[in-house]
Amino acid sequence: MITVPDVQRFKAEGRRFAMLTAYDYTTARLADQAEIPILLVGDSLGMVMLGHSTTVPVTVDDVVHHARAVARGAANALLVGDLPFMSYQPSLERAMLAVGRLLQEGGMHAVKLEGAGAAVVEVVARLTEAGVPVMAHLGLTPQSVHAIGGFRVRGRTSEAAERILQDARALEDAGAFSLVLEAVPAEVGRTVTEALRIPTIGIGAGPHCDGQVLVVHDLLGLTTGRTPRFAKRYANLGEQAVAAMRSFASEVSDGAFPAPEHTYAGDGGKRETARYGG
Ligand code: KIV
Repeated sequence: MITVPDVQRFKAEGRRFAMLTAYDYTTARLADQAEIPILLVGDSLGMVMLGHSTTVPVTVDDVVHHARAVARGAANALLVGDLPFMSYQPSLERAMLAVGRLLQEGGMHAVKLEGAGAAVVEVVARLTEAGVPVMAHLGLTPQSVHAIGGFRVRGRTSEAAERILQDARALEDAGAFSLVLEAVPAEVGRTVTEALRIPTIGIGAGPHCDGQVLVVHDLLGLTTGRTPRFAKRYANLGEQAVAAMRSFASEVSDGAFPAPEHTYAGDGGKRETARYGG
């Protein structure tokens, strides 16, 4: 099983690693088979699983629900649960309660939160003190989408890049065990990665980060509509799914499905199970 010290060792050994989002049992099993070392139950679930246009409406209940399914499917990966919007910003107590639910009910091993304001840095320090591994997240922080004015690349000016570097250092000092860098120029990814002892995990942050993360729906080609330039497709499962569904509907309408091999015999038929999985 992959642990937090393993992830930190990856950086020390110069070993680049992958992280993927997962929101359900089946995907978690597949990612585990693919030996993906870190699975993130991201609040992106609000967009790709629930159809919201941002991550803002996601609740702790939503994340716990999906986290439990992922924890049942993954035996080897380090499991990180996203703290949704307003579950950690209002108070330390709220943050502790949300974290307790993600770890105790959701089966997560670590949590992720966004930003580096004074209150967030304090939450990171207190969680670290309490033995909870925290993954930080800077650059484009989607929970602040309304304040930023859209899903925009961050850190493009030298002042903004310097701010990200200072924030990253503060989060590392507070005890974060890793840092997601989202949608920043490659140079910012490089500078922050070189400056920190903890691993950086990039998503649209260039090739110099210690790890890379993708939303699993993007990687599999399940996302519809426009995707950001970093969202590389490794398969076209969306197209295959539509073709398979069309074939099913057409075989039903012309009577080709179900065929005899899909049909149970009555008396004299062999004993067989009608359950899934196993
Ligand atoms: O919610 C999420 O999936 C994320 C990743 C994109 C890093 O935060």
